[in-house]
Amino acid sequence: MALVNYNELLKYAKEHRITVGAFNSLNMETLQAVVTAADKMNAPLIVQTYHAHVDFAGADYMQAIADVASRNVNTKIAMGLDHGRSYEQAKLCIDNNYTGVMIDLASEDYDYNVKETRKVVETAHARGISVEAELGTIADADRSLEEIAQGYTDPEIARRFVKDTGIDCLAVSVGTAHGMYKFTPKINFELLKELVDTVPCPIVVHGGSNTPDEDVEKMVEMGIAKLNVGTDFFNAYEDAVRRVFQEKGDHPDIMYLLAEAREAVEKVAVHKLELLTKFRV
Ligand code: 13P
Repeated sequence: MALVNYNELLKYAKEHRITVGAFNSLNMETLQAVVTAADKMNAPLIVQTYHAHVDFAGADYMQAIADVASRNVNTKIAMGLDHGRSYEQAKLCIDNNYTGVMIDLASEDYDYNVKETRKVVETAHARGISVEAELGTIADADRSLEEIAQGYTDPEIARRFVKDTGIDCLAVSVGTAHGMYKFTPKINFELLKELVDTVPCPIVVHGGSNTPDEDVEKMVEMGIAKLNVGTDFFNAYEDAVRRVFQEKGDHPDIMYLLAEAREAVEKVAVHKLELLTKFRV
């Protein structure tokens, strides 16, 4: 199947009461792994390129791999830019036929964020491509719980922002963070409920790695539309590579090495998708 845009998957998620996994990948093996997992679970999936990986991996290469992968499976796949840093970066991915782009100017002032986000929305929507933006600060996971909580999304500003920009989904800060947590995260479910119930677009949560399974399930049940996961896949990949070197010595067969890494990522992806589709109707 050809790549689809986020909106098609977000609509499916709402109808079937699932959360769409948005899984980061930066090479062929990680991308193949998450798409194979989605196909096995019969779950739609957004494959994402993290903004800092775009230059390394190449938006053209990643889109091409995602395009081939999506045509080889029966489930619906979208290809997205994660945390795009500027209009120019979003445009690069739009021009390379990504089907969704995130523009993250949450650290800028409100008016600038609205102005630049609107520009991305106009360009993307003209080509049927979806747009995600962010409000509040989604911190790095090595921060204290107090620091993470300081970045919570303000629901009133979020409601205004969605109307002012016309975005398709909004990433919010409710207590999750990016990377490996130093402390068990404390999610503000009350705030999340208000955001899901009152913001006029689907809600996205980031920092899905090493968030306790029961917290993920609760957020899924509450109706979050999209959950971003990155670190858990890259850790699984690295752990498998390390294990193969330990077991096989300095020069393991390259195909065996990459196959083990790919399989390790696939297993993590299957587990995440089990959580995200637990309440499927
Ligand atoms: P993790 O790496 O913590 O899973 O976060 C990924 C993410 O939110 C990407 O936007």
